[in-house]
Amino acid sequence: MLNLVLFGPPGAGKGTQAIYLARTFNLVHLSTGDLLRQEIAAQTDLGRIANEIISKGELVPDSIVISMIESKLKKPKTTVGFIFDGFPRTVPQAKALDDLLRKHHSKVSVMLCLEVEKEELIGRLFKRGLTSGRCDDADAATIENRINVYNEKTAPIISYYESQGKYHPIHGIGAVDEIAARLSDAVEEL
Ligand code: C5P
Ligand code: MG
Repeated sequence: MLNLVLFGPPGAGKGTQAIYLARTFNLVHLSTGDLLRQEIAAQTDLGRIANEIISKGELVPDSIVISMIESKLKKPKTTVGFIFDGFPRTVPQAKALDDLLRKHHSKVSVMLCLEVEKEELIGRLFKRGLTSGRCDDADAATIENRINVYNEKTAPIISYYESQGKYHPIHGIGAVDEIAARLSDAVEEL
């Protein structure tokens, strides 16, 4: 199985690029952010909890997102593999993903890290906020907090994958199709 972790700060382009990669390599796209937004739209209990956390730019507890991923992996559909977009967000989530994949006799193939500097991220998130309707793209303080949360809680995942020889940085600035080509070249070189 080909299991890609698509990693990077908020606004790096994970969602956009995950769609391309999923199509190119015939993978199932799993976005925990999208799954949480679906819960919010459906006004479930989980959605109400998630909405409060997401609108502040904070992270939903590990146990919640891990069980969401667990239930998606359980689906008995045979698949070439998965692309994980926006998950893992913490080192415990990265460890849990390894455990879950091991149970399915599989593993993470590579972690592709989209690299984009802070000023560019802020500009992109602001611009997205004008059309996305996402409450967490709407104001400067929330955007700033998401980037801080990324640096504090999410970025340590880089060393986790680096120590396994799976960390693969990708330059995240340029045209969407240029970046898509960089990513798929990296996967093909595996
Ligand atoms: O991945 P995405 O940027 O779409 O996620 C949007 C928000 O969902 C995050 O800012 C965070 O509040 C929440 N989230 C989370 N844990 C994850 C994925 C997303 O808390 N694993
Ligand atoms: Mg996303």
